[in-house]
Amino acid sequence: MWRINECELSRYDPCFLVVWHRRKPRTLTFFANSTPRRKQMHFSVRVSLKYHIHRQLWTYKSRRMMSMPSHKVVLDEEAIPKKWYCIVPDLPEPLPPPIDPVTREPAKPDVLVPVFGMELLKQEAGQQRWVDIPEEVREVYRLWRPTPLYRAVNLEKALKTPAKIYYKYEGVSPPGSHKPNTSVPQAYYNMKEGRERLTTETGAGQWGSALAFACMLFGMKSTIYMVRASFNQKPYRRIMMETWGAEVFSSPSRNTGSGRRILREDPESTGSLGIAISEAVEDAVTHEEAKYAIGSVLTHVLTHQTVIGIETKEQLELVDEYPDLVVGCIGGGSSFSGLYWPFYYDKVSDKSPKDVEFLAVESTACPKVTRGYYTYDHPDTAHVLQFLVKMHTIGHTFIPPPIHAGGLRYHGMAPTLCMLKEKGIVKSRAYNQVDVFEAGQLFTKTEGILPAPEPNHAIKAVVNEALRCKETGEEKTLLFLLCGHGHFDMQGYDDYLNGRLLPYEYPKEKVDEAMRKLVKMYPWLKEEINFK
Ligand SMILES: Cc1ncc(COP(=O)(O)O)c(C=O)c1O
Repeated sequence: MWRINECELSRYDPCFLVVWHRRKPRTLTFFANSTPRRKQMHFSVRVSLKYHIHRQLWTYKSRRMMSMPSHKVVLDEEAIPKKWYCIVPDLPEPLPPPIDPVTREPAKPDVLVPVFGMELLKQEAGQQRWVDIPEEVREVYRLWRPTPLYRAVNLEKALKTPAKIYYKYEGVSPPGSHKPNTSVPQAYYNMKEGRERLTTETGAGQWGSALAFACMLFGMKSTIYMVRASFNQKPYRRIMMETWGAEVFSSPSRNTGSGRRILREDPESTGSLGIAISEAVEDAVTHEEAKYAIGSVLTHVLTHQTVIGIETKEQLELVDEYPDLVVGCIGGGSSFSGLYWPFYYDKVSDKSPKDVEFLAVESTACPKVTRGYYTYDHPDTAHVLQFLVKMHTIGHTFIPPPIHAGGLRYHGMAPTLCMLKEKGIVKSRAYNQVDVFEAGQLFTKTEGILPAPEPNHAIKAVVNEALRCKETGEEKTLLFLLCGHGHFDMQGYDDYLNGRLLPYEYPKEKVDEAMRKLVKMYPWLKEEINFK
């Protein structure tokens, strides 16, 4: 919190500004002896005033003085970030590039150019730490951003924990999750490059809805391949996409060669994200007017999601907090990365006031990080994407059991997260769906918001940590991402409430079987895959 105590400013003399920050006086010195310098100083004072001497700040402060924590911290629309943060220049070592499966050399740009728009490819390959957010994209973000940061006061009371629990809520976006943070820029850049249509896959239906929403805003068409299990479980997600103007296929479909091939082998296939990606990419590369858009895993997607963490840091600063632990669920890693990357930046640039830890939580039904192998694998099932990516994987042939946390059913993971997991910088944990729905129900009974099944995994981890703090007496600050609401996931809640969910764990033998198939295809991977 900043309070101006004394401010001397003259045309030729240096200026001193004594401010109070976190109960300590700090003197800022400005040499304002030239007009541009004076302007610069006026600007920095104005920025400080805008964000730190805001009327709301006094509300947060006075509630704290009365020992009444604020339930939520909201920011003005002007606080929507102007830049995204990209972690790549701050990684401990260069990211292994996607490679050609035959030559084992880095994949040539011509395998990617037919798939993605140029600006997005530039961002994917770029080494730039800060990426400007186009004004047109910020304008759309204003529809729901900045999103609120909540303190889970009632959950803390129910758990009788000394820990403080904060959560950033992304369910306020029109499609109901974090996904439009990237679908909007992806649609925008493709529209600017003259594309008329985007194709994609969707598991839970959240990403497909986000892309349908973004394409509608920029006057584009969208074609969504929805994993058959979700297509059947979530008709209202499909209707939402169709209402925004999308064409939705149940995947595997008869609309593409790869879909037809899979249906020939298994007409009852319930589908997978790997299959739906193959279909969406094939559709894009065989049609001039179309490109493919991806909802997770790739670096440009994760970069777009950092609006989450950048806002969260600003909100926590308003209540004088910094997390000890940052938690998120992981499907392909985009929502969690959007939250933890800006805190990771603090850590590597020595700006972090605490030794913050990062925890990624996945489903025992799709345990790529906790049970999979860190190796090269195909990103899609039918190898339409002609390159291999180094990541934690349980095998691209993975067909998930039709559990309800649909968004966590991808066989691979964001390479950036995998590298940091291997280095011990990001920790991981897996929970079964019965335990996570139980945590989700406790959350909704205390905080009111009904979470999507995916963030219930993060809630489960936070509840466990808060209970551990109760035993040790630690007053830790825990932060997690509530990345979406569960209003379209009622079947999952109904199954949980009526005892129809099973605590499913994907067998280790099946992971090893998939890895053996991979080694048969690419014998040189044998050295990489060190069977555990
Ligand atoms: C609400 C929600 N949370 C999380 C995820 C997982 O994806 P990611 O790890 O990329 O955030 C999804 C994916 O569809 C989702 O819909």
